[in-house]
Amino acid sequence: MSVRALFAKAQGSAIRELGLLAQEPDMVSLAGGMPDPALLPLAPVREAYARALASDNPSVLQYGPTDGLPACKEAIAGFLATHLGPHGPEDWVITTGSQQGIDLAARTLLDAGDTVAVEAHAYPAALQAFRFCEARIAGVAADEQGMLPQALADLAGRQRVKAIYLVPTYGNPTGALMGTQRRIELLKAAASAGAVLIEDDPYRCLGFDEAAAPPTLHQLNEEHRLGAQVVYLTSFSKTIAPALRVGALLAPPALRRAVVLAKQAADIHSGLVDQGVLVQLLRGDWLAGHLAALRRHYATKGQALHAALQTHAADLMSWQPPRGGMFIWGTLRGKAPAGTDWKALFREHRVLFVPGREFSADGSDAGHLRLSFAHPSVERLHTGAQRLARVLRQALRTA
Ligand SMILES: Cc1ncc(COP(=O)(O)O)c(C=O)c1O
Repeated sequence: MSVRALFAKAQGSAIRELGLLAQEPDMVSLAGGMPDPALLPLAPVREAYARALASDNPSVLQYGPTDGLPACKEAIAGFLATHLGPHGPEDWVITTGSQQGIDLAARTLLDAGDTVAVEAHAYPAALQAFRFCEARIAGVAADEQGMLPQALADLAGRQRVKAIYLVPTYGNPTGALMGTQRRIELLKAAASAGAVLIEDDPYRCLGFDEAAAPPTLHQLNEEHRLGAQVVYLTSFSKTIAPALRVGALLAPPALRRAVVLAKQAADIHSGLVDQGVLVQLLRGDWLAGHLAALRRHYATKGQALHAALQTHAADLMSWQPPRGGMFIWGTLRGKAPAGTDWKALFREHRVLFVPGREFSADGSDAGHLRLSFAHPSVERLHTGAQRLARVLRQALRTA
C-alpha cells in the first residue's frame, strides 16, 4: 500500500482528540497521560538550559552524531545501570522521545504482512507505528500481570512472530506490573519463537514503592542467558518533562546499527541542546529527590482515585489498586453497546476517560476503560469518579 493510502486509512489519536474536550469549562479529564503540571520542574530545567549553553564553544549549536551525544548516552547508562547492568555509551541511541524508539524499532524489524504480538490492550501510538509498517497486529491474551506466555507460544506455533511489544512495568493502559517469573517465561517464549522483544519502559521510576518493580526484561535476559533479543526503550517524559523529547534505545549491535540508519532518514539526530540539558539534570543528586517526590505525589493521587471509585463505582466496574505509573484499568460489569456515543456522555456529565476500544488492535473492545490519575487534583479526582459513575450508569442502562 502506498504511504498516501496508509494515511488515508489512518485514524488520528482519539486520546489527542479528547485533549480538545478537556479544554471545555468544568471538564474533569481522566483521559490523558500527561504529567501533573505542578510536578514539571521548571526552575531546574531553566537552570540546566543556562548551564548547557554557558560554554563559549559554539559546537553546542552544531550538528551532532545520529546516535546522540556521548555524554548524554553515558549519563543515561549510569542512571539506569542498576536496572540494565553495565553498558557503555556505544550501546545506546538517543531518540526523540521513546515514541521515536518504538517507530524506529518497528521500521527496522517489520515488513508489510509481518506479525507483531501485543497485549490484548496496548498503547495506541505503538499500534499506530506498527500499522504504518503494514504489520499484522496480533492481540495476545493477558491477565493482571500482562501477556500470557502460553498464549504467545500458541500464536508463535500458528504463525511466524517477528516482534513482541510490551510495557511490563506499570503498563499503559492497564497499569499492570509483570512479576519476575512471568518475565522469564515470556523471554523464553520470545527466544524460542525467534521474535525480537521490544520492552517499552517509561514508567519504571514511578513505582509507588520504589523497590517493587522486578528487573527489566533486558537484564533478566542477560543474567539468565535466555537468548532472546531485546530492544529496551526508556523516556524522560514522565520523570522530567515530555517537552524535552529525550528518550533512548538499547539494542544488540546489528539492530542498533539498523536503527541508526533509520534515524538518519528520520531526523539526522535528536536535539543536542536538549541532550545537553539532560546531562546537566542527571548530574548530582537533584533527580533522586525529584523522583521520590513524584512517587509520593502519584501514590497519593492513585490511592485517592482508587478510594473514590470504591465509593462511587464499585457496582459498575472492577479494577486493581494502582501500584505505580499513571493509570487504573477498569473492567465494566456489563458491556457498553457498540455504538455508544461516549463523547456526548462526556459532554453531558463533564468527565473524560478513554474507552477500551482505543487500545485494542481491532477496535472491538466494549468492556474496559482507562482512567489516568496523573493530572487532576485529588479533589477533582473525587468529582471525576462521581461523574464517571453517572456516565457508566447511563451507558450500561442502554445496553
Ligand atoms: C507506553 C508508552 N510508550 C511511549 C510513550 C511516549 O513517550 P515519549 O514522550 O517518551 O515519546 C508513552 C507516552 O505516553 C507511553 O505511555
